[in-house]
Amino acid sequence: MLKEAVKKFSEEVVAPRVYEMDENEKMDPAIIKGLFEQGLMGIETDPEHGGAGASFTSAILAIEELAKVDPAVSVCCDVHNTLVNTVFRKYASDHLKNKYLPLLSSEKLGSFALSEPASGSDAFALKTTAKKSEDGSYYTLNGSKMWITNSAEADIFLVFATVDPSKGYKGISCFVVEKEMGVEIAKKEKKLGIRASSTCTLNFDDLKIPAENLLGVEGQGYKYAIEILNEGRVGIAAQMVGLAQGAFDKSVSYAFQRKQFGQAVGLFQGMQMQFADVATEIEAARLLTYNAARLKEQGHAFTKQAAMAKWYSSVVAQKASGSAIEWAGGVGYTRETGIEKYWRDSKIGALYEGTSNIQQITIGKFITKEYS
Ligand code: CAA
Ligand code: FAD
Repeated sequence: MLKEAVKKFSEEVVAPRVYEMDENEKMDPAIIKGLFEQGLMGIETDPEHGGAGASFTSAILAIEELAKVDPAVSVCCDVHNTLVNTVFRKYASDHLKNKYLPLLSSEKLGSFALSEPASGSDAFALKTTAKKSEDGSYYTLNGSKMWITNSAEADIFLVFATVDPSKGYKGISCFVVEKEMGVEIAKKEKKLGIRASSTCTLNFDDLKIPAENLLGVEGQGYKYAIEILNEGRVGIAAQMVGLAQGAFDKSVSYAFQRKQFGQAVGLFQGMQMQFADVATEIEAARLLTYNAARLKEQGHAFTKQAAMAKWYSSVVAQKASGSAIEWAGGVGYTRETGIEKYWRDSKIGALYEGTSNIQQITIGKFITKEYS
């Protein structure tokens, strides 16, 4: 039922706006409003805090369905749920949960601000500082974040900053920062793909935040960040599976319409061998993704499987969307069909929430533990 509802929303509300949003490099506010109205922005949040109280797998299915139509809309919903809401749900005090989760379920968009200009893969080398005031009533935030998804539209930012640089990553703490507290939204990136998804630099210049907006415990922010990213990576895997399927559906449908040499090009065996190859890889990526979600949901270890799902799905998404262009011939290369957009969008899967190298390093750490 959820898949059907998200499919309907994607086809009726998102699809007509995809081309224009990509051309304008801007998310239509009606889409974000629609995601809230559909109950998709607090999908795992409990009903007591205004959410739908659904499972992690439900969140994953919604991301996949949205990505079939627009991976940019999909990542907006994904970051908001699997990164921002989940940090609140898992680690915040009752006070912060009661204050922010209802807003995040109903109207306020969230962003997750970890990366900085000099710390991407090496995320725990971040330089943004949070200094506690002498009377303990507030923290002063200084520094910059880079590449922050949803930041042009967001009201609530989870910002990772160190309260004590001498402690290395054990000084990293997580803060809830509202835009109106004084976040400067600086440069907006002009990107290859997911162009409707905003990606900006944030600057904090002596920005004061109430001490109660420390989320969880000082020095535990690194743990929150990476544990949430383990979950988030399943979300990105789902985004890549949806993207691959969306590209496949569009292009293969076209191949059965397009006639050359007196028959539909999709009927040529040379085409069908390629369809079979890509369809099988999409299915394998989907099963890796669902399996990681299942393990997480049942409380089992899932970090290795999440890394495998994200890495493999991003490879499959690039291959499927690249093949989709070729199967459609010249029209696949033009912007009107939307097929080339999937290919541009696919590239991000190997970069954010940990590059493919980082996923392989994570998998390698488990293999070392198991075999050495
Ligand atoms: N799960 C749980 N804990 C982990 C972990 C994992 N996958 N990887 C590392 N840790 C823990 C370690 O156990 C250790 O903690 P303790 O000291 O408490 O035992 C601590 O982290 C440091 O471990 P390492 O020294 O092995 O880690 P590192 O400093 O070499 O690198 C990392 C750690 C920064 C997490 C790196 O592995 C990584 O994942 N980098 C990628 C960063 C990333 O994913 N950024 C995403 C930003 S958000 C985003 O991108 C959103 C979006 O686009 C939509
Ligand atoms: P680098 O870390 O400089 O990596 C460059 C190359 O070196 C990569 O190929 C990498 O794999 C390789 N490399 C680095 N270290 C190693 C190693 N140890 N072994 C082998 N190879 C290595 N961040 C957020 O905090 N919040 C967001 O919402 C967010 N959204 C994003 C949206 C977009 C569109 C983009 C592009 C990025 C976003 N990011 C976000 C940042 C993203 O997580 C980082 O770009 C990513 O983690 C990689 O960091 P980097 O760009 O600094 O690359």
